[in-house]
Amino acid sequence: MKKYIDILCEEIEKAFESCGYDKKYARVSVSNRPDLCEYQCNGAMAAAKEYKCAPIKIAGEVVEKVKTSKYFDSVEAVNPGFININVNADALADYVNQMAKDADHGFEKCAKGEKLIVDYGGANVAKPLHVGHLRSAIIGESIKRICKFAGYDAIGDVHLGDWGLQMGLVIAELEERKPDLPYFDENFKGEYPKEAPFDITELEDIYPAASKKSKVDEDFMQKAHDATFKLQSGYAPYTAIWKHIMAVSVADLKKNYSNLDVEFDLWKGESDVQPIIPGMVDDMIARGIAHESDGAMVIDVAREDDKREIPPCIVRKTDGAALYATSDLATIIDREENFQPAKYVYITDKRQELHFVQVFRAAKIAGIVNDETKFSHIGFGTMNGKDGKPFKTRDGGVMRLEDLIRIITDAVYDKIMENRTVSEEEARNTARIVGLSALKYGDLSNQATKDYVFDIERFASFEGNTGPYILYTMVRIKSILDKYFNGSEVKAEEISFNGEATQKSLMLAAARFNDVLETVVNELAPHKLCAYIYDLANEFNRFYHEVKILAEEDESKKKSYIALLKEVVAILETSIDLLGFEAPERM
Ligand code: ARG
Repeated sequence: MKKYIDILCEEIEKAFESCGYDKKYARVSVSNRPDLCEYQCNGAMAAAKEYKCAPIKIAGEVVEKVKTSKYFDSVEAVNPGFININVNADALADYVNQMAKDADHGFEKCAKGEKLIVDYGGANVAKPLHVGHLRSAIIGESIKRICKFAGYDAIGDVHLGDWGLQMGLVIAELEERKPDLPYFDENFKGEYPKEAPFDITELEDIYPAASKKSKVDEDFMQKAHDATFKLQSGYAPYTAIWKHIMAVSVADLKKNYSNLDVEFDLWKGESDVQPIIPGMVDDMIARGIAHESDGAMVIDVAREDDKREIPPCIVRKTDGAALYATSDLATIIDREENFQPAKYVYITDKRQELHFVQVFRAAKIAGIVNDETKFSHIGFGTMNGKDGKPFKTRDGGVMRLEDLIRIITDAVYDKIMENRTVSEEEARNTARIVGLSALKYGDLSNQATKDYVFDIERFASFEGNTGPYILYTMVRIKSILDKYFNGSEVKAEEISFNGEATQKSLMLAAARFNDVLETVVNELAPHKLCAYIYDLANEFNRFYHEVKILAEEDESKKKSYIALLKEVVAILETSIDLLGFEAPERM
């Protein structure tokens, strides 16, 4: 559907043109003085310079022309040359009726099934999943859903960090703890056990212990490096341990991500592309893409117009080892072979920004992707505690995701039990759904690049700009609809305007959906969707407090209100799904 604001704009454009002025001056925007008008056009001021006359004269002429348009109620020229617009509520109601008939509420898809890779999550195998990975999972899941909604064939890949030093650390520590395991007996000729020599609890203990030890014990660190090297060279016993680490860790990761309602299409990792790395780098050298520098192999990615120094992308270290960037380049080769994506979106901590600039440029220079392929990196800020420092547990440790979810779910549970109208079991269930909204909305409502303070009390509050407030509003609307329909067949209802100012404001907010979504898609900015639904929820609550809905005696008025509510809750439903959470039946 044409955007509502574009319809208004076209009316003003026609007027500018028929008065002999360029239509480029006819831009309409939402009014920044809602007390005066709903929309405005300030183009007469700029036009006055070109046509060398008073802006108010131009504004006055334009206003005369649009007076009869069915889309406007009142259009006024105001000194020095503003055009203040109030829209016609019947035409607006019509527009919202059209939206209600469309599955996407009037949003037009901008992609036609092009493939798009969303690289998010990025957990490191064998290390516990902590809040540091939470943002990537939450933001990435939302971005993937937004891209799907926009018409892309979006594919989410968790891209595990499963090939680094942490593996060597685990192996070295395991050898100290259980030296009798066959993996550590060089003469062992039999089959390695199918059963992993540890469970997830033990594995979660092994890595932090090993990491701590490696910082104070040089010998141990050397052992870990040796083990990593042996593993990466294909040493069979360590490959067998690595497979156990993978199986135990990935099963746990799957459980954790699923608790977050985060679903990946692909569970690939750095290890998957290791076999193609030597050939890739050799080929880059042979083609003169990579060259030697201080013993390492690098690709120059700096450009003349760079405003800052962009160092070369190192693809092979002096000792022959591959690096993070090498893995990422090989992964792009793999993705090109399998999917030929039109676009790649990576979601990581913003401290990796330079890494991605280098990788994206190197991929183009090396011809791994074609010129049209789009790359984007969404770098996010840190989740801080109330003290402004990265969020930690009370004793200063890294907060585990499971614990974090539990804390927020408990906070919501207590709130629900305060006015105990539901069974304990239902309250637990509801608390999980609402807790997730608190966590996700608390994150997504901030611009991703910014750091934010993780404030459980605020995020879990049923009032203010929070996930629970949005859900509470939806539950309220659904309960009105349930009472009205009372289990009967859902009849098609039409929205008509009944003269209430709050109804008009609510329709105006609803009508902005496709416009907002377009921006959200273009900028991959979930926080703008949050701001929008907060606004829509507020408009609904104003309407709700002002207007008697179910007690309305005029049946046709009541039907019209119900029809509007149906569309508002449908928009909210679509929006929270794009943000990655859902609403409970009751709260
Ligand atoms: N495992 C990495 C980390 O924990 C994130 C991976 C992001 N994705 C990528 N293709 N580099 O920092």
